[in-house]
Amino acid sequence: MTGSIITKVQARRVWDSRGNPTVEVEVATTSGMGRAIAPAGASRGTREASDLRDGGTKLAGMDVRVAVSNVTTLIAPALIGLDAGDQASVDAALIALDGTPLKSRLGGNAMVATSLAVLNAGATAKAVPLWQHVAEMSGQTPSIPLPEIQIFGGGAHAGRRVDVQDFMVMVPGASRFEESMEVTSEIYRAAGAIMKQRGHSIGVADEGGWWPVFDSNEQALDTLMQAIEAAGETPGDRVVISLDIAASEFGRNGRYRLALENRDLDRDQMIDLLGRWIDTYPIASIEDPLSEDDPEGMVAFTQAYGDRVQIIGDDYLVTNARLVSAAAKAGACNAVLIKVNQAGTVTESLQCMATAREAGYRSIVSARSGETEDTSISHLSVGLNAGQLKVGSITRSERMAKWNEVLRIAEALPPDAFVGGAPLANTWWGRTRHVSTNQ
Ligand code: PGA
Ligand code: ZN
Repeated sequence: MTGSIITKVQARRVWDSRGNPTVEVEVATTSGMGRAIAPAGASRGTREASDLRDGGTKLAGMDVRVAVSNVTTLIAPALIGLDAGDQASVDAALIALDGTPLKSRLGGNAMVATSLAVLNAGATAKAVPLWQHVAEMSGQTPSIPLPEIQIFGGGAHAGRRVDVQDFMVMVPGASRFEESMEVTSEIYRAAGAIMKQRGHSIGVADEGGWWPVFDSNEQALDTLMQAIEAAGETPGDRVVISLDIAASEFGRNGRYRLALENRDLDRDQMIDLLGRWIDTYPIASIEDPLSEDDPEGMVAFTQAYGDRVQIIGDDYLVTNARLVSAAAKAGACNAVLIKVNQAGTVTESLQCMATAREAGYRSIVSARSGETEDTSISHLSVGLNAGQLKVGSITRSERMAKWNEVLRIAEALPPDAFVGGAPLANTWWGRTRHVSTNQ
């Protein structure tokens, strides 16, 4: 399509939600422009695409001057003349130009911002919304995802004041996306009121969830239960709990150190602990229950609990099709988190989603803890028919930009485009509730 031939690629340094520098890219075609910004993780998997940071002492070594200049000096000449509507070819050119396994030459941050800017430029050239462009590209029927929303932060996003990284809720019993936002807002408010009553000063962690002032991980879970009840809900009915353990942050060589409780667990004890939580609380989804270096634990945990809860690989699978295939063969996890900047390009993320679908894995499009106003992932979750979206809490505008964008997109789709509880159909929740299966 001549209107989508890339004529210009520009980059600038902008700033993310933690005040760190990041890369913004603009890709122009004769039909208009597409823009995107690279997000940044704090609890990163070792096998994900690596961001290029300048190092040194300035800005704690986090500057991205080299990554920005890589876009203008190396990437731009390679992309000008290519078709922004042909995402696969553009991404193949980026991957060839980089030539390293973890995108360390150009920088994962330079590459993901470019790849997403090309995606946006492709939609602009077609004069369709981004979600529609993605749906046409992936051959999927667009759907409105079930949100997974943080109430308490933790782990690397909250000074490790509690070991578990995300205490979240999902509202699979909601009949519309906006209903799940409303219910979650009530729960968030109730959780804040409880913390205030306990005399804690009210602050938030990196993704907008309440700052975790707890004596144990269980106390955080108990407080979440109280907040759900205080919001007028019966835990496990319309609302369920979802956890991101992010165990790679405190697990090494099959051993797990729960710093808050001053406890050291081996693999089996860690699995037993999570099993007790699953028995005690209405948990329908658990992410990274074991460390990324513990495939044995991940298989054992999936064998024990995979028919009851969704088990998501994040650090463990790093949006990598090959790792998803291997995990499926081994019987580890039954869902994959999709973070475009872990893969480094849109095409590789799509390949990972396709592999997940073939393996019967569910998928959850996810933001990073360092985010911006960029809303590309909201469109990806819809256009890829991912079924679930995780972008942090229900506060802070880098989070709300994504949720609010889904509300806008939902207006363009029929009411039954909302997947509701369908992604949790194979969990205890799906078996005990009526689940519509329009996914
Ligand atoms: P990160 O955390 O963006 O800091 O890696 C998000 C997650 O673990 O899901
Ligand atoms: Zn995670």
